[in-house]
Amino acid sequence: MTPFLHRNIISIEQLTVEEIRLVFERANNYLANWADFTSEISTLTGKTVALAFFENSTRTKFSFEIAARRLGATVLTFTASSSSQQKGESILDTIHTLEAMGVDMMVLRHQSSGIVDFLSQHSSIRFLNAGDGQRNHPTQALLDAFTIENTAKKSLNNLRVCIVGDVLHSRVARSNIQLLTKLGAKVSICGPKTILPKHSPYNVPVLKTIQEAVEQNDVLIVLRLQKERMESGLLPSLEEFSKYYGISSSVIAKNPNIPLLHPAPVNYGIEIAFDVAQNYPNSFIKHQVTNGVAIRMALLSLINQI
Ligand code: CP
Repeated sequence: MTPFLHRNIISIEQLTVEEIRLVFERANNYLANWADFTSEISTLTGKTVALAFFENSTRTKFSFEIAARRLGATVLTFTASSSSQQKGESILDTIHTLEAMGVDMMVLRHQSSGIVDFLSQHSSIRFLNAGDGQRNHPTQALLDAFTIENTAKKSLNNLRVCIVGDVLHSRVARSNIQLLTKLGAKVSICGPKTILPKHSPYNVPVLKTIQEAVEQNDVLIVLRLQKERMESGLLPSLEEFSKYYGISSSVIAKNPNIPLLHPAPVNYGIEIAFDVAQNYPNSFIKHQVTNGVAIRMALLSLINQI
C-alpha cells in the first residue's frame, strides 16, 4: 500500500498521484459506510482538532467539524474576534499557546497566502489548509475531482474540464488546475479578461466565450465572483457578466448533460441561474458538499498516521 507521509495538508503540489488515489479510496470507504460510522469512531479519539477561520466559511468549516467529530476527535472553534489577537497577540504566539494546551491538528483559513505553510514550519501541530489568500484551497480541489470521478462517473484521464469565471481571485481555481492536470485532465479557463490572470495559471488554454466553454468540454466548474477581493471597475456590471458568462438553461442546452460543479456559495442569477443550480440533473453542487465531509475525514485520518 502507498504510504501517506504528510503531517500537513498545505497544497496540491505536495501530493503524488498515488497519495491522491489513497485519499479518494479512503473517502470512498467512508461514503460506503455513511450511515454507520461506529467502526471509525475511534480513529481520532483523544485528539483535539481546532478550527481557526479568519475568513468566513460555511461548507469548509462545518464539514471539517463533522469529519473530525465522526472520527472521534474533540473539536474546538477558535474565534479571532473574541481572542487575545484583539489585544495584539501574534498568530504565531496564538498557535504556540494552542500547542501548549495539547491541540493536535488545526484547520486554518486565512487571508494571507502562504501563512499555513509558514505556521506548519514553526509548530508541532498538524495543519490542514482550508484556504490561504488567493493561493490554495487543496481540500476543495480534492472534493471537486472526487465528485467528477465518483459521483459524475467521469474518468479524469483526458477529460476536458473548463473553469469558468473569476479565476483571478480564486484559490479554488489554482488548486483545481494543479490537481486535475496531475490526474490527466485537460483543463482550460474561461471568463472576462479583467478577471482572468494576466498570465494563465500553469499555461492552461483560455477560451473566449461561454459557448466554446460549454461545447468544447466534458465538465464545467463554475466559480463564485469574489466580490470581497475585487477592485471596483473589473466588471462593467453583474448583469453584463451574467449575460455573457452566466450558466442558464439555454447555455447548458449547447451540451446537454454536461456535469456542472460550483464550490459555492453561489451567486444565483449571476454565475448560474437558480433553476439550473437547483434542478439540472447534472448539477453536482450538493454532492460536492457531501463528498467534502468524506474527503476531509480521509485527510484527517491519513495525517494522523504520521
Ligand atoms: N467552497 C467553500 O470554500 O465554501 P465556504 O467558504 O462556505 O467554506
